[in-house]
Amino acid sequence: MTRHDRVLPSALEAIGETPLVELARLGRDLEGRILAKLEYLNPGFSKKDRIARQIVEDAEADGRLRRGQTVVELTSGNTGTGLAIVCGIKGYPFVAAMSRGNSMERARMMRALGAEVVLVDQAPGSISGQVSGDDLALVEQEAQRIVEERGAFRADQFRLAGNMRAHYLHTGPEILRQTGGRLDAFCDFVGTGGSFAGCAAAFKQHSPAIGCFVVEPEGAAALKGEPVTNPAHRIQGGGYSMAALSLLDLAHVDGYLTVSDSDAVIWARRLAKEEGIFAGFSSGANVAAAARLLQGIHRGKTVVVMMCDSGLKYLSTDLWE
Ligand SMILES: Cc1ncc(COP(=O)(O)O)c(C=O)c1O
Repeated sequence: MTRHDRVLPSALEAIGETPLVELARLGRDLEGRILAKLEYLNPGFSKKDRIARQIVEDAEADGRLRRGQTVVELTSGNTGTGLAIVCGIKGYPFVAAMSRGNSMERARMMRALGAEVVLVDQAPGSISGQVSGDDLALVEQEAQRIVEERGAFRADQFRLAGNMRAHYLHTGPEILRQTGGRLDAFCDFVGTGGSFAGCAAAFKQHSPAIGCFVVEPEGAAALKGEPVTNPAHRIQGGGYSMAALSLLDLAHVDGYLTVSDSDAVIWARRLAKEEGIFAGFSSGANVAAAARLLQGIHRGKTVVVMMCDSGLKYLSTDLWE
């Protein structure tokens, strides 16, 4: 019996176990298959619900989070939405610190779910809708200030193992089950690196031959070691121009791919029109990168990507015409 055949005690149990869909229409002109994990079907419409649940439950289990204690996190919106859901159900007050550069649907949704949202002004010279590493540094300062002021638990997605563990324990094994272990490559647009790290660890454990590729914005490929010329790219949720990420195990990285803003937009629009998959910029970037793999060394192979969040989160942007 799957969870779809019974009544669940709360929306927490509705997190994860998302479908894996072949992009057969987009793949028509390509040799090989792209399989898309529909993470936008989680209760908060993104893959970040998974890490919110894992980080909170890990901290409950080892006593770092006390009953009724406030939870704080810096977020581009998706982790905050996940934490708002998890904290709301479990009874923890939640404060989200977010850059004004992120789309406002995100702040409204977090507030609707019971979160207190603190919006942080962007760095001088930053552009609305384009959150840079400098903008993120300002949000980090504010998050640290709130944690101290309130004696709160910091659900630190950049550092806590729960971020990676959510994908190592669940997302990766789900994909292995859904494909019968038959996949050749995985490519993932990186923010904290949590979903890349967790899935790659699960895949490499199953078969070291599964190629795992980090996806970064063109002009902000800091992990690849390139100079950052375009920190204000448009692929929300990642590409923060950080040269190192503590969750990322470089031994699991088989290569780096870069995607332009316009390619991310083109593929996100094609996903919607041709596959009925309404996802965001980073999902478009993932498919752009997967197509590149199928045109190169992975011709004829199977590549898995995440559909990280819902296109509904970008209605106020020009992603949709
Ligand atoms: C829409 C979106 N895509 C991709 C990512 C990157 O995921 P990760 O932090 O696991 O690297 C995020 C992270 O916030 C996100 O919100």
